[in-house]
Amino acid sequence: SESPPVATPPMGWNSWNKFGCDINEQLIRETADAMVSSGMKAAGYQYVNIDDCWAEKNRTPDGKYEPHRTRFPSGIKALADYVHGKGLKLGIYTSAGTETCARTMPGSLDHEEVDARTFAEWGVDYLKYDNCNNQGRPALERYTKMGEALKKTSRPIVYALCEWGQNKPWEWGRNAGAQLWRTTGDITDTWASVMNLLDQQVGLEAYSGPGGWNDPDMLEVGNGGMTDTEYRSHFALWSLLNAPLLAGNDLRSMSEATKKILLNKDLLAVNQDWGGKQGHKVRDDGDTEVWAKPMSDGSNVVVLFNRGGASATVSATAKEIGAPASSGYRVRDLWSGTETESAGTLRAGLPSHGSATFRVWPSSKPQAAPHTTLSLQAPEYVATDKPFTTT
Ligand code: GLA
Repeated sequence: SESPPVATPPMGWNSWNKFGCDINEQLIRETADAMVSSGMKAAGYQYVNIDDCWAEKNRTPDGKYEPHRTRFPSGIKALADYVHGKGLKLGIYTSAGTETCARTMPGSLDHEEVDARTFAEWGVDYLKYDNCNNQGRPALERYTKMGEALKKTSRPIVYALCEWGQNKPWEWGRNAGAQLWRTTGDITDTWASVMNLLDQQVGLEAYSGPGGWNDPDMLEVGNGGMTDTEYRSHFALWSLLNAPLLAGNDLRSMSEATKKILLNKDLLAVNQDWGGKQGHKVRDDGDTEVWAKPMSDGSNVVVLFNRGGASATVSATAKEIGAPASSGYRVRDLWSGTETESAGTLRAGLPSHGSATFRVWPSSKPQAAPHTTLSLQAPEYVATDKPFTTT
């Protein structure tokens, strides 16, 4: 059977973070509409994913899922047709257990084949497979069974494990037929949660690559619990980690700031780089950190990050971020689009919880007279007055 198109991390939206169980077919249709009208589709977002609570509490007499009668009266097939009509794809959710996590509908444990067939018949393109109510049965067995059932349908369906990292799914996810696997428990719309999840990604970079991605959970950008500075750091770091970029906000009513984050083409290009090398932490100074990712064109992306409670200046050398030795570098600020030449040290003054993201190319351009500052124009930056230093 075909392997699904997951050469780069999946991009889309999921209903859970904002709406929980308060979902219906109108919301899904309006979200698909908004994905197109906001420019998200044009930027690469594709999957419209329904999370928990879409089905009736009990199976039909012949053992199949029944879409929720009042909230999804037209059924999932009609919804898939609608979403496909917009040039988008539809995702769905269930659990490798007897019930889903919200306990409002049955899980697929011991019903893998019939459910995979049903999803394929409906035209589903993506399955998030959760871990609740698993009866203590081995994860590898439960997740492999659904992977095989999906393959048997011969419909390309992206298979996303939601096992929360409990059994190191990065080691066996690919063999279970999955294209991505959650590495942690659930994100919440708080800075503490984003930091907690980020710290759990350290060391996992070796397991991620084209066809199989570490998933630090969906985005909270635009949900209101964090500042835009914090959302920018969340988004920059998730992009650098090659995380699936699944927006978790209400796409029908986004602020301009939220749109600017989700539609940042320079960051999406980092996330979607064809080489698929996950970024990783290259320096940890406690309150400040440096994260870097090698890009397929030979450039390097760096996130200078201030996770502490006070403003701080963060710097990194070209060498530290993996850039080749060069007499100079072209540096692009991926939030403002500003480009400067640098002798090899990047520096930014950052507010609490702020970050600066640069893409750095070796440059043969002769160095201009001493560079004194980066022209950091985005409002969250404070340009420093210190001169650049060579390494
Ligand atoms: C679990 C998952 C979440 C979400 C909920 C739905 O907690 O990890 O991402 O799908 O279940 O109930």
